[in-house]
Amino acid sequence: MARNLNEVMVIDAVRTAFGRAGEKGIFWKTRADDLSAPLLKALIERNPPVRPEMVEDILWGATNQVKEQGGTIGRFISMLADWGWEIPGCSIDRMCASGLTSIALGASYIATDMADCLITGGVEHMGHLPMGFMRDPHPRAEEVMGDASAFNMGMTAENIHDRYPEFTKDMADQYTVACQNKADAAIRAEKMKDMIIPIEVELADGTKMIADKDQQPRPGTTMETLATLKTPFRQEKGRVTAGNASGLNDGAAAVLLMSEKRAITMGLTPKMRWVSSAVAAVDPRVMGTAPVPATLKALAKAGLTMNDMDIIEINEAFAVQALYCLDRLGVKPDDPRVNQWGGAIAYGHPLAASGPRLVAFLMGLFKENPEARYGLTTMCVGRGQGCSVIWENLLEK
Ligand SMILES: CC(C)(COP(=O)(O)OP(=O)(O)OC[C@H]1O[C@@H](n2cnc3c(N)ncnc32)[C@H](O)[C@@H]1OP(=O)(O)O)[C@@H](O)C(=O)NCCC(=O)NCCS
Repeated sequence: MARNLNEVMVIDAVRTAFGRAGEKGIFWKTRADDLSAPLLKALIERNPPVRPEMVEDILWGATNQVKEQGGTIGRFISMLADWGWEIPGCSIDRMCASGLTSIALGASYIATDMADCLITGGVEHMGHLPMGFMRDPHPRAEEVMGDASAFNMGMTAENIHDRYPEFTKDMADQYTVACQNKADAAIRAEKMKDMIIPIEVELADGTKMIADKDQQPRPGTTMETLATLKTPFRQEKGRVTAGNASGLNDGAAAVLLMSEKRAITMGLTPKMRWVSSAVAAVDPRVMGTAPVPATLKALAKAGLTMNDMDIIEINEAFAVQALYCLDRLGVKPDDPRVNQWGGAIAYGHPLAASGPRLVAFLMGLFKENPEARYGLTTMCVGRGQGCSVIWENLLEK
């Protein structure tokens, strides 16, 4: 039986503000499921005539699927949104790319006509569920992954500095300053306003506030202050610091996906079209390099090259891995196509929320750049994986 693929569209993308993990974080007293449910509601409120009962499945990324992120959080959050019992949901884990994987799988799901309307995305509360929490590594884990450094993401970034010494600390710090400046300009120009869904929260001291701004960015970051920071992953001659690394954060982000035919029937305006997606795996000790093979694979599947990518959203787990990936993909770190509004070094990296955050940024940038046709969202993943998705701007001139 011959079957045609459906075109898959992004209708909307939203996120919470990103908080700092820990007691000083805006979400210290807010659960991961309570970060997620308001995003489901917002996607419906922002996109009439879409109704909750039209959502055929929720694919929700979460890296640490224990405690509040356990128990199939993807199934639970529709009930928490007071949508009744009839909306299915599941949880997906590809560590940092859990959310981007949810989107890519959701796209394949719609493309193959198994659904017409899905909510995809993810959440990570790194304050409540720190990286590595409640893990039970196999006794052979170090041996099969190369060595113990593969367990610690900061050490994998130091490994990239070691293996590719052409990417220096100075370059990583320069990249960081530029990233913070771009984020500061975007925030001042209110670029985050449309995508952030405000949530009322209680802080550790009991005061209440509306969380509608990212807590992580550090405007005014300079090369001088970055030079004074400790290198926590390697005391002597380390290069990775709290400045040139992404932070530890809490947040959620969600994307409403629909088949083209359903979107047209409903009179909705799709923002972007899914073109291709791919994953790839590398030596876990240099996990930050994996966006390169993943992107090359996604480009090959689409019959496109990096020159066709008008906007590039790369998740900056660490400045050095972003520098490596851009270089190997033939893109200069200061290329205006790259992370125009800044990246994870400024906004933070609440693991499973970061992929859908990239998609929300790309959607906003496509809107502002109608001459742009194709965009890339890509990220690295602990244990040595990369995940890339290519999109086409439907708001182009
Ligand atoms: C690097 C890391 C260990 C730092 O954690 P931390 O020490 O809690 O970070 P902080 O935000 O407290 O920053 C440490 C210090 O650097 C300073 N700092 C951080 N960024 C700065 C900047 N851009 N400019 C100036 N100072 C900065 C802070 O003010 C703080 O100073 P203090 O100690 O005097 O208060 C942590 O962010 C981390 O593990 N990041 C990587 C996350 C990760 O692996 N994610 C998965 C990727 S695959």
